[in-house]
Amino acid sequence: MTDEKINREQLDWDSEDFIQLVNKTAICLTDYVTKANKGQVSVADLRPMQENQLDLKADELITTGALADSGLGSFLNTYLAHSTQLHHPNYMAHQTASPAIPSSLAELIHGSINNPGAIYEMGSTAASLEHVVLNWMLKKLAWKPEPLKQSDGDHGAGALMNGGSLANLVALLAARSHIAPDAWEQGNPNDLKLLAPANTHYSIERSLSIMGLGSLALVPVEVDEHERMIPSALNETIEKTQASGFRVMAVVANACATGSGLFDPLDEIAHVCEQHQVWLHVDACHGSSFLLSNKLKHLLKGAERADSFVWDAHKMMRVSGLCSAVLVKDAAHLQNAFKQQASYLFYGSPSMGKDYLHRTVECTKTALGTKLFLTLAWKGEKAIAEYIENRVLMTRKAYSIISSRDHFYCPYVPESNILCFRYKDDDELQVEIRETLLKAGTYHLTSTALNGKRYLRITVMTSVTTEETIEKLVTEIERQW
Ligand SMILES: Cc1ncc(COP(=O)(O)O)c(C=O)c1O
Repeated sequence: MTDEKINREQLDWDSEDFIQLVNKTAICLTDYVTKANKGQVSVADLRPMQENQLDLKADELITTGALADSGLGSFLNTYLAHSTQLHHPNYMAHQTASPAIPSSLAELIHGSINNPGAIYEMGSTAASLEHVVLNWMLKKLAWKPEPLKQSDGDHGAGALMNGGSLANLVALLAARSHIAPDAWEQGNPNDLKLLAPANTHYSIERSLSIMGLGSLALVPVEVDEHERMIPSALNETIEKTQASGFRVMAVVANACATGSGLFDPLDEIAHVCEQHQVWLHVDACHGSSFLLSNKLKHLLKGAERADSFVWDAHKMMRVSGLCSAVLVKDAAHLQNAFKQQASYLFYGSPSMGKDYLHRTVECTKTALGTKLFLTLAWKGEKAIAEYIENRVLMTRKAYSIISSRDHFYCPYVPESNILCFRYKDDDELQVEIRETLLKAGTYHLTSTALNGKRYLRITVMTSVTTEETIEKLVTEIERQW
């Protein structure tokens, strides 16, 4: 045996294998993305789970372990062929990013070094970048960034976590610690309510149940014909809730609403909350990234007056899932959201950087900041802003095309890249259209109910969806129905 051979066998990472396998993976992925981008494949090729499992030889491979030797290429091709094609022009379904190259690279880097960003000593560079991107977000909101050194001063704070649902939970924990500081130890007082429009994302109601407040703690606030919160109704609901002997833990506003893509009037809502000294939480999972654009950031006017804010980078910033931030204007509020003891982690000795563990549900988490940082730093934040503006503009064009056709109806001019429309006046037809197109693998749309009526819904995510895509979609619907 040569020295080189002995060394390779003794190492736990075969570098030649790695380069070859990454190369092979990159080739398969490039083929997948290119074909999807050009619309040369079906947008979806869904089949029953059992067929996938058999075709992927999933059970067999676990036993034989044949993947390492020669099986990766064919496995990947099968895996990708039946994956959802987020890079396809006809993909207009859920608010999941069609990820850009730097995000893909970040996943590879993290998967190789596995440095969790939650404790500084376990991922100092990841945590350093988390601090940078969180401060970048705080500044976008016109909140004071968090200094590197621990400070009791007046500044904001944040943490990255795995998803907007979790970020909403953490924001509500911060709100609860503000109004009921003993709740962590003593449990919930029985007089807390949360006010939000009924179309608020389901993670808010779930959070209430997880926190032990119960979903009935959610008091719906009246909305307008497009399901946007009415500020005067909020005022009345706060007064009514208080007059009934309850305290308002928080008001949650949508920026934007998941179904419609429309923004609640944040400035007026903030004014009402300030008057009653009530915590305002802005669920900006989808619309937060509009803060990057001078043309779109007016939609978030008033968010800077909130107490907490959540931001999903894995929606409109071309970052793969997940990458969410919870941000608070006053750092102390996030500090109080959790209390924990773990003698193996917390020694009370000074760290050279920030530990984010105290601010999240997760103990170990991936290098979320690195993923967002690479995406922003790749071509600069302006490039992401242009992508967002361009997708919103495209959605407005879609509105013009769709609403100009007979039998099609769009209930509102879109503010974001989400648009609802209806073809003919029949709830069941909307579902049938979506299901038929998805089954045929031609278009991937969603459907939602707005004010009691069912609509088709598009979310324009990929850069390759054009006016021609929308023209062809409506023509196909007319042809079949
Ligand atoms: C307004 C809003 N809040 C929360 C969420 C949940 O985010 P995540 O899927 O990252 O958990 C979504 C997702 O669509 C959303 O649109």
